[in-house]
Order: sequence, then C-alpha cells, then structure tokens
Amino acid sequence: MHLAIDARGLRKRFGPADVLTGLDLAVPAGTIFALLGPNGAGKTTTINILTTLVHPDEGTARIAGHDVVADPEAVKRRISLTGQSAAVDEVLTGAENLVMFGRLSGLSARGARRRADELLRRFELSDAAGRRLGTYSGGMRRRLDLALSLVVDVPVIFLDEPTTGLDTRSRQELWRVIRSLADGGATVFLTTQYLEEADLLADRIAVLDRGRVVAEGTADELKALVGGEVVELRDAEGALLAELPTDGTVHGLRRAVEELDRLAAASVDGSAVSIRRPSLDDVFLQLTGREHAPALQESR
Ligand SMILES: Nc1ncnc2c1ncn2[C@@H]1O[C@H](COP(=O)(O)OP(=O)(O)OP(=O)(O)O)[C@@H](O)[C@H]1O
Ligand SMILES: [Mg+2]
Repeated sequence: MHLAIDARGLRKRFGPADVLTGLDLAVPAGTIFALLGPNGAGKTTTINILTTLVHPDEGTARIAGHDVVADPEAVKRRISLTGQSAAVDEVLTGAENLVMFGRLSGLSARGARRRADELLRRFELSDAAGRRLGTYSGGMRRRLDLALSLVVDVPVIFLDEPTTGLDTRSRQELWRVIRSLADGGATVFLTTQYLEEADLLADRIAVLDRGRVVAEGTADELKALVGGEVVELRDAEGALLAELPTDGTVHGLRRAVEELDRLAAASVDGSAVSIRRPSLDDVFLQLTGREHAPALQESR
C-alpha cells in the first residue's frame, strides 16, 4: 500500500503541555482521512508538523515518501495547506486573487488566468469571480481559500477544520468540493470536531485524544467498536427522551427495550421505542469516557 502520509511516534511538548504523546498515522494515497478531536486535542499541531511548519520533538513523518524534517522543500512541493487564516487581499476580486497567486507561483499571465477560471468553476465561484473578497460570505471565502491553495497542483491536501463556523448549506457545498478533490486522485487530510463530517466525508477516521490516536478505521469499524445497537425512546414529536446502549445480543436488546417500555408507560403518551446502530458520538464516549461536546447536529 502506497502511503501519502506515514507518521510514527510523533511527540510535541509546548512548555509543560504534552500536546502530542506518540502519534501514529498511516494514510493511503488517494483517500480522504479525518483526524477527529475536540478543542485543544492537538489537531493543528499535527497538521503543522506534517506540513513542515513545526518540528516534532520525537518521531518521524513522511509525506509522499519525503521526510518532513530532513527534506521539507520536497514535502512543500507536494502539499497544500488551507487553515483558518489565508493570506488574501480583501480589496481584490476572487479572480484577481487567484491570478495574482498564480503569477507569484510562476505561472504565465495567460496560464494564471486559465487556472483561475478553472478553479472558480470547480469551486462554484464563477458568478462571484468579479466581486471583491470583502463581499464574500463565510462559505465563499472558505472555498476561495481552498482554491488558492490549489493553484499549483499537488498530490496531498491538508485542510485544518475546513467547515468550522459555517452554516449547514455552506458546509454541504464545501463537502462537495472536498469530495471532488479526492475524486481527482488527491489525498485529503482534514481535521474536524464534527463526528458527522468525519462520518460523511472520510474513508478512514482517527480519533485523537490526549495527544494520541485512540482509535482508527472506517466509520463502520469505529461504530463496531462500540458493539451493539442502541435502543432509544422518543416522544410523539420525535424528541429523544432516553437511550440505552446494548451488547447487541437478543437478551440485551430485550432488556433495554423493556426498560424503555416501562419508562414510556410511566411518562409520555405516543412515545416510541426504536433501535439504531451506534453513532460516532457513542464511539467517542466509549473511547474517551467523555461526551463529544461540539457535535454538529443529531447524526443518527
Ligand atoms: N506554539 C504553542 N505554544 C504553546 N502551546 C501551544 C502552541 N501550539 C499549541 N499549543 C497548545 O497545544 C494544545 C493543542 O493545540 P492545537 O492547536 O494543536 O489543538 P487543536 O486540536 O487544533 O484545537 P482546536 O480545535 O481548538 O483548533 C493546546 O492546549 C494549545 O494551547
Ligand atoms: Mg486547531
């Protein structure tokens, strides 16, 4: 298997804070990989190390076969990074920003214009091409940031929390764009606090907790870690009243259903018991013993 990202035993400490405590990652080329973790888990630190911006205290990382410490220039030629603060000019239009960036990256005037047009189309920004960036919505800005990082074609794309702070519609537009990147053959490494986003987008997901990966796999594999189905009780309007995890056995299911049935009888008219597969929220709770606070919305 060809690995686009191969990180072993990464450690990073800032003063007294042990931020990464032995992080391993193996990301196959051409896949979308999500690093999932709450605020302060070390997601940006990981991205900074993988993109050569920060040196690890210990451990190694190779991007497309090149070591981030020994050969940062080779790594930089093969990656793009989109974070929360891109260097763009508010007064210029979207198209002008892209053309300027293309020229700075060594494209001819005509080549830069052609590339800008292509990217504006791909990121659904053609209609806004002639507008100043200052007038863009949050979602449009995020798409333009992403387009800017792709003016030069690269095989490995890093996205640090690409959809944080966006509304549902902008988030969905961005998801579409991110998928199209992987369809084009790129490897996409993204960080997110949203279980739903990791579930929807990523081929594989790593759960980051206290500076290391505590679980890694497909969404289904992670859900399987939790074991059995979850039985839940909802009122007539569909609002969740109670939920009980089960061990997946018939006996366990029956016990949970009976328990909820008693609750239902005692409380609300028109309530209903149903059974669902475990969600990634359940996985996070199981793996870390803590609720995953910033869940986007019910992902069940
Ligand atoms: N340069 C630095 N100096 C000191 N502490 C730092 C530095 N960079 C990060 N940290 C600390 O390391 C921890 C992890 O930070 P990091 O930014 O990697 O987390 P994150 O998962 O990206 O969080 P968020 O979801 O808020 O973006 C935090 O406690 C942060 O305060
Ligand atoms: Mg961060």
